Amino acid sequence: MNTLTLSRRALNLLTSGSSLPTTSCLSASPSSFVQSSHLSTIRLLGRDYPADEETNVSAHLLKHTDRLLHLQKQHPLQIVKQRIVENMQAKYLWNNRSPLFSHYDNISPIVTRAQNFDELLVPGDHVSRQRQDNYFINKDLMLRAHMTCHDSDMIRSGLDCFLTTGDVYRRDTIDRTHYPVFHQMDCVRLFSTWELEEFAQDPKNFKAFADEGSPADPNIQSCHTTEAVKIMEYSLKSTLIGLVQSLFGRCKYRWVEATFPFTYPSFELEILYNDEWLEVLGCGILMQDILVKSAVPKKVGWAFGLGLERLAMAMYNIPDIRLFWSEDERFLKQFRVDNIHRPIKFEPYNNYTSRARDIAFWLPANFVENDFYDFVRDKLPRDTVEDIKLIDNFSKGDRTSHCYRLTYRAWDRHLTSEEANHIHDTLATEVTKIGGVVR
Ligand code: PHE
Repeated sequence: MNTLTLSRRALNLLTSGSSLPTTSCLSASPSSFVQSSHLSTIRLLGRDYPADEETNVSAHLLKHTDRLLHLQKQHPLQIVKQRIVENMQAKYLWNNRSPLFSHYDNISPIVTRAQNFDELLVPGDHVSRQRQDNYFINKDLMLRAHMTCHDSDMIRSGLDCFLTTGDVYRRDTIDRTHYPVFHQMDCVRLFSTWELEEFAQDPKNFKAFADEGSPADPNIQSCHTTEAVKIMEYSLKSTLIGLVQSLFGRCKYRWVEATFPFTYPSFELEILYNDEWLEVLGCGILMQDILVKSAVPKKVGWAFGLGLERLAMAMYNIPDIRLFWSEDERFLKQFRVDNIHRPIKFEPYNNYTSRARDIAFWLPANFVENDFYDFVRDKLPRDTVEDIKLIDNFSKGDRTSHCYRLTYRAWDRHLTSEEANHIHDTLATEVTKIGGVVR
């Protein structure tokens, strides 16, 4: 009995331990850049998932799902994560003893559409649900587009104060600051009325929830009192300023109004970095409906979410988001520090020239730009494209042609002009194969 169980497990580990896709099942369908599945399954994190007409995960993307950079010791993303967790856990204590916030960084990125959208009150027709912006495994499952997708479950499981970190997946443009996989950290803090009371003007008469029929304040959710929101907003903003200052030292910052379906009011925090305003996070007061549906109707709370790459690029002067995926010692060794608070400035180990090449083609039917970007990442050698820009757009009769400028650059080696030509020719061939006519 035991032997059977053991060998089954061993077999499982052997056959399903890798998240590498069965690449043969992923290919662009004729006349389109859309990645679709001709075979029946997608292999992801050691399991097979049925593919269907909604499947649009690319082979390039699937190769990244088991890298878990935020768990890799002394990786810059892991260091930033650790600094944030330390800041939050040292500053906020329960009974002056144990950390108020617990931290979870090993939650599977495979979620339902309900988790990613519905439970967060994202309307059915909201732009963020579009196929061109998300990676769907099939009609039920997707790769999470943000860490906020776990908030409802975590709250329902009984947590009031928590942080989550993980890899998130979004279809986007190709440039130095965008990559289809990146890492986010989310945080939620819930309060019972008695926890807000101590900050109230008149604690005895303090109410977190507005009486029915009381005059509505359009700047807050109608169920909350203005005072409760003020106290929470202060708590949220002071937590975040403390956090950002622990990472960047004293810096100029500003709050910008924002809109998220799951918070109201909502804000974004921008910091002045190298003379530019850099958006570092989104946050707000959690929609009460989410708390009601998560079985804590009597609590109120705030949430924030931040991108780790964005912070790490600014903190360590990392010029290109592709570098985080590098396995090159010349990159990794620069972050092997004994103390994560030691300032690090990344020293580029090459200044290899970039090589620009243009491609123009008549668009195939149903052309979507993000499909083209995934196509490029799939067909060309690993991450050799630094940037793609649409530089010309022209129509003749019912046909439209786009001209894209691709900038090629490799961070770990010199890319010769001949090599860039060769890679670029491969792209032209691949575009032709799916019915695009290269001009
Ligand atoms: N999930 C949001 C994003 O990905 C960030 C956010 C989290 C905003 C929590 C508000 C509250 O941009």
